[in-house]
Amino acid sequence: MHFPVLLREVIDHLELEAGDVILDATLGGGGHAVEILKRIAPGGRLIAVDRDPEAIERGRRRLGDFKDEVIFINDDFRNADGILKTAGIERVDGAVFDLGISSFQVDDPKRGFSFLRDGPLDMRFDVSRKLSARDVVNKFGKEELADIIRKYGEERHARLIAGAICASRKKKRIETTGELVDIILKAAGGKYRRQRIHPAARTFQALRIFVNDELAAVEEGVSKTVFYLRPTARICVISFQSLEDRIVKNIFRGMAKSGEVTVITKKPLCPGKEEVRANPRSRSAKLRVAERLS
Ligand SMILES: C[S@@+](CC[C@H](N)C(=O)[O-])C[C@H]1O[C@@H](n2cnc3c(N)ncnc32)[C@H](O)[C@@H]1O
Repeated sequence: MHFPVLLREVIDHLELEAGDVILDATLGGGGHAVEILKRIAPGGRLIAVDRDPEAIERGRRRLGDFKDEVIFINDDFRNADGILKTAGIERVDGAVFDLGISSFQVDDPKRGFSFLRDGPLDMRFDVSRKLSARDVVNKFGKEELADIIRKYGEERHARLIAGAICASRKKKRIETTGELVDIILKAAGGKYRRQRIHPAARTFQALRIFVNDELAAVEEGVSKTVFYLRPTARICVISFQSLEDRIVKNIFRGMAKSGEVTVITKKPLCPGKEEVRANPRSRSAKLRVAERLS
């Protein structure tokens, strides 16, 4: 199961009407999509994008009742301009970006995203791309690895972990998530004794962001999409870690200064206690909303 995060808040802010054209840049399990579709049908259009072909296949099954309203596109949202142009869409009445990974991806050991499930060290959203986490961990130099872990994982013990990875791979290639977790636990487990976060969490986040070039995709995808919003249309972006949230905040601030948007959420919206209790994965979510001015 994947529970859509901050669903009511997203739906309320989009102010949907039948006939609207909406971009869902991160279809995932289709949780936001289905609620959007109920409100824009009949006559509306949902451009449902995901970089992961498995998400698109799942979406086709889940959203079967809305065949006439959905256009599925398996692509990276950083190509938002090309995606919309190809779909013949000139302007949209709203857009949603729900960043990061879905429960389907994290819970599937063969995708290699989880430090809690043993599987091949992969982490690619789109497996047709060449570079996997296995390549990064086995081929990159120690300094480069430490930089990636520090920059994208905000991991204080990045050098220690990078050193342990390099020492371990001299003996044997690192092939699985379980092997990588063991290396991190041996190297830095003690440093995390008093913390609630898993010692491997930051390193896994860093590798995933790097492998999928996630931050550049957010920067490009969100900026391009704002350009396609009709005046008074809104864009909702949910992020799950501070690096992404900072990017979104800065894009919106810059565009507000130049008079392109007004920022609706002066502070990001976060899930309430009840949502976090029902869906602990929502706890780090932050929603920012901006409205196109002209
Ligand atoms: C958190 S899930 C979305 C969940 C969805 N809103 C729902 O309620 O079921 C994020 C999805 O975004 C996709 N994704 C991540 N980066 C992407 C990108 N640059 N372009 C397109 N899809 C992306 C992932 O493959 C994943 O399926």
